[in-house]
Amino acid sequence: MLRIAFVGWRGMVGSVLMGRMREEDDFKGFEATFFTTSNVGGKGPDVGLDIPPLRDAFDVGLLTSHDIIVTCQGGGYTKDVYPKVLETGWAGYWIDSASALRMDEESIIVLDPVNRDVIDRGLAAGVKKYVGGNCTVSLMLMGLSGLFATGRVEWISPMTYQSASGAGAKHMKELIAQMAELGVIAGPLLDHPATTAIAIDEAITDRLRQGDFPTENFLAPLAGSLIPWIDSAMESGQTREEWKGMVETNKILGTETPIPVDGLCVRVGAMRCHSQGLTIKLAGDIPLDEINGMIAEGNPWVELVPNDRESTLQRLTPAAVNGTLTVPVGRVHKMLMGPEYVAAFTVGDQLLWGAAEPIRRILKIIVEHLG
Ligand code: HSE
Repeated sequence: MLRIAFVGWRGMVGSVLMGRMREEDDFKGFEATFFTTSNVGGKGPDVGLDIPPLRDAFDVGLLTSHDIIVTCQGGGYTKDVYPKVLETGWAGYWIDSASALRMDEESIIVLDPVNRDVIDRGLAAGVKKYVGGNCTVSLMLMGLSGLFATGRVEWISPMTYQSASGAGAKHMKELIAQMAELGVIAGPLLDHPATTAIAIDEAITDRLRQGDFPTENFLAPLAGSLIPWIDSAMESGQTREEWKGMVETNKILGTETPIPVDGLCVRVGAMRCHSQGLTIKLAGDIPLDEINGMIAEGNPWVELVPNDRESTLQRLTPAAVNGTLTVPVGRVHKMLMGPEYVAAFTVGDQLLWGAAEPIRRILKIIVEHLG
């Protein structure tokens, strides 16, 4: 029977992955071993099976007795353990949610509703490294896969509105802690209907600027504000998050001529849905109803939202999409710059299609491939 090792199942992406695998009844047809970096001998996750106590995630000998290793432990673990695993001559499949191996020449970035052809070619060629993509890139491609498939996308400029979850679990909590702090200030003022909005704003701004406002993780207020910087600086003037847009999009699609993708990435006070305002330059003047049709038919999870207020407010917001696999695309219209320019807005759950779901699906694909 196939043996599969799971590392990093307790963190945010890992626990969403475990939840999805349980929901889809995926824990069958293989033997699962759960590893830990901190709690050897402890109890593993509830996956509806009797499972042995947790094993040591640094035990290379034990890891390499498995056919597939799935890790959501993070880039530090990958950089440390993966070379040691390879040194043993291990020929199994490494599935990773971290970015460490993403741009490696021998890895494939997985997003099977978009690049199943690339994955199948990789499997046939004996590729053993499968890595989840950057969440923003994966969610943009899930929304626009139908348009990309036509080969008519000349370039895209995504302006992002990224959730706290993309930064990590502590950041999600910090966002809410910041909101709670603002609630403490605003509460008594709101109790007096005569208080003006300007007076409330002054009190809120004053609190945002105080040294003890909780910003340990974000390093700046996010509640009542935003942060137009994600990840580290690049020589190009982009941030690393912005740089990933073009390199990962083109690697996922397996393009021969790279499609330019560039825009600004901004953190906003949403919990776990990334949103993106897209400027799309098409090769030619394609009628709007055809564009809508292409987007709608891209994959079973994309949902075209009519460009009207009611539909937008009901279906095209993080509040509506949080915790679901639906990737709505709306606000689609031609722009004033010319008939080849199209605006669109998309929202997607950063922990599902942005992280855990492509990993869950590549594991199934590889299990089927080996079966
Ligand atoms: N880097 C992303 C973010 C998350 O900070 O939102 C994961 O791809």
